[in-house]
Amino acid sequence: MGAAMLSALVDAPLPLPAWDLPVPARQTLRDREVDVWVVPLPLPEAVEATLAATMNFEEWERAGRFIGADKRRQFIAGRGMLRLLLGGYLGLPPSQVRLDTRGQGKPVLADDPSLGFNLSHTDGLLVIALAAGLEVGVDVERVRPVDNAPALASRYFSARECAVMEASPRGFLRLWTCRESVVKAFGTGVSAGWENLHIVERSRETADAVCEDRPCHVRMFTPQPGYVAALAGLGTGFHLRPARHVDFTQVTHH
Ligand SMILES: CC(C)(COP(=O)(O)OP(=O)(O)OC[C@H]1O[C@@H](n2cnc3c(N)ncnc32)[C@H](O)[C@@H]1OP(=O)(O)O)[C@@H](O)C(=O)NCCC(=O)NCCS
Repeated sequence: MGAAMLSALVDAPLPLPAWDLPVPARQTLRDREVDVWVVPLPLPEAVEATLAATMNFEEWERAGRFIGADKRRQFIAGRGMLRLLLGGYLGLPPSQVRLDTRGQGKPVLADDPSLGFNLSHTDGLLVIALAAGLEVGVDVERVRPVDNAPALASRYFSARECAVMEASPRGFLRLWTCRESVVKAFGTGVSAGWENLHIVERSRETADAVCEDRPCHVRMFTPQPGYVAALAGLGTGFHLRPARHVDFTQVTHH
């Protein structure tokens, strides 16, 4: 295919998904308010195909590089749902949402940095957070036995964190998701100075974190039975609206 034809295809208006998802408008999110969307995976194939059609060329290329079908489907579901939701909040067709990356690969909106967002996928679940005027990070894990938990804990967690950590897979994964969500809020990825990140649990649901002298607030939640998740927001606090669960077997497709 010639470059001109390829470019015409990529620029062409893409078919728009029009499910009856109750996506609120951007204006309904007050400053430092966060919406969390929970989506069971895998998506039905027809839904996945429609969402895939909203991805840009670079995302198609990335999807094509996954060797395993499960990871490829996870990526498509994540990017497709992200585009659908961001488009809904911003009043844009999903294919016209312009994404950029910052720092160590954190996706951001190219045209509206005041709408923060982040996503996390794991075996069977996708979680997407959208926030007004706030940098957020989210992480979700399926609760399962973690063979090398003690070794991972002593490598990544501080002595104080290890001392207070509940000795169970859930306890380990709660702290793990907390740390990951903070790293994702900062957008630093693996290059973060782990020794400079400290998590202090305040209650079963809340924790405060300090990373290189910058504060971050964390909310832990159960997005669905059998999973643990954490949402981190830079600064000292935020308001989490009730989680929105998407079930594509229940929504109408026009
Ligand atoms: C970037 C990173 C945080 C992703 O975490 P993960 O658990 O592998 O995967 P998740 O599904 O939770 O998140 C992946 C999504 O986060 C987003 N993301 C990618 N890089 C990111 C970054 N630097 N900051 C924030 N978000 C990022 C992307 O949307 C990505 O999904 P996509 O590629 O499908 O669009 C991870 O690669 C990383 O660097 N982790 C730190 C590793 C570590 O040492 N952990 C110890 C924890 S105590």
